[in-house]
Amino acid sequence: MKTKIYDIQKLNDRAMAHIKEAADILKKGGLVAFPTETVYGLGADALNPKAVAAIYKTKGRPSDNPMIVHIADMDRLHELSLLRSEVITKLTKRFWPGPLTLVLPKEEKVPDETTGGLSTVAIRMPDNPVALELIKQSDCPIAAPSANLSGRPSPTKCEHVVEDLKGKIPIILNGGNCRVGIESTVLDLTGEIPTILRPGILTQGDLEMVIGDKVVLDPDLNRKKHQDILSPKAPGMKYTHYAPKAEMIIIQGNPDRVRIEIERMKRANEEKGRVVGVILFAEQAFRQAAHDFFAELRSLDDQGVDLILAGALNDENPIGFAVMNRMLKSAGYHIIEV
Ligand code: TXA
Ligand code: MG
Repeated sequence: MKTKIYDIQKLNDRAMAHIKEAADILKKGGLVAFPTETVYGLGADALNPKAVAAIYKTKGRPSDNPMIVHIADMDRLHELSLLRSEVITKLTKRFWPGPLTLVLPKEEKVPDETTGGLSTVAIRMPDNPVALELIKQSDCPIAAPSANLSGRPSPTKCEHVVEDLKGKIPIILNGGNCRVGIESTVLDLTGEIPTILRPGILTQGDLEMVIGDKVVLDPDLNRKKHQDILSPKAPGMKYTHYAPKAEMIIIQGNPDRVRIEIERMKRANEEKGRVVGVILFAEQAFRQAAHDFFAELRSLDDQGVDLILAGALNDENPIGFAVMNRMLKSAGYHIIEV
């Protein structure tokens, strides 16, 4: 399949025509990759089971892994879920459009294909003008996982999407680099206490402040070992994720010792003829780390490294925690303490 790549810097007439073309493809059950503020998404009409099945097929993604449904206005929210509450009102007023996904009881019209057979649906309003315009013009809620092949790092630049999906989908909308760089915070509102299923740039504290009440982290998030996750509530958590092609090891501990150990391991491995890449973020630069992490993984893969040594972030910081959630998965939970 020939893939058209449209660069969109401003929403001028030309851009609107491109978005319209993409929206028409969505309406007909096709797939379109588009930018959001978090990562690029691979979208299809969320209410069309065949279209959603095509996402799974294109990504090579297990079909019990549910999708996030993207909307551009509040009326849509109430079509997809009947649940109304003060918490929902407060959160959507403050954080939408933005990197917050809400898990709510689903209405019947949302197909099982979209929710992986769950009785709940994950919904968010992305904060990106191209995404919002695409959703509006398509006039359908858009199911969109990250626009990478399953298991690869999430795409934060158009070139990442091109690398993974060129030839597989008809249109990629290029809206430049994603502002946040890690996926949205997923918050489950179907239980008694709002529960974070996936940490993101919007933190437990951010959410608690707006709700004025307690928010908890899903206990699975604190388990370091993949094997320990027995009954993941966000099914996406049980799969190998974000994995670079290279072997990856995380080094955790006192920052000075971490730097020294990374240097030592780098030299030792280079002496054995291996090409070694290093990911080491400035100590307090959590947002920068979120922004750069996936792109760094891909860039090291492009350089053909055999081994990636990554310095752990301080996971007592909530954004550090969110990046570490991805870093641990990328490294297959391979972490050493120094
Ligand atoms: O930032 C994002 O959320 C990006 C952009 C494209 O919007 N999308 C994204 O989608 O990260 P995806 O499919 O890669 O991740 C969806 C996450 C998975 O961990 C999935 O298990 C969880 O949300 N999820 C989806 N529906 C759910 C549901 N009904 N209950 C619990 N978890 C759900
Ligand atoms: Mg993903």
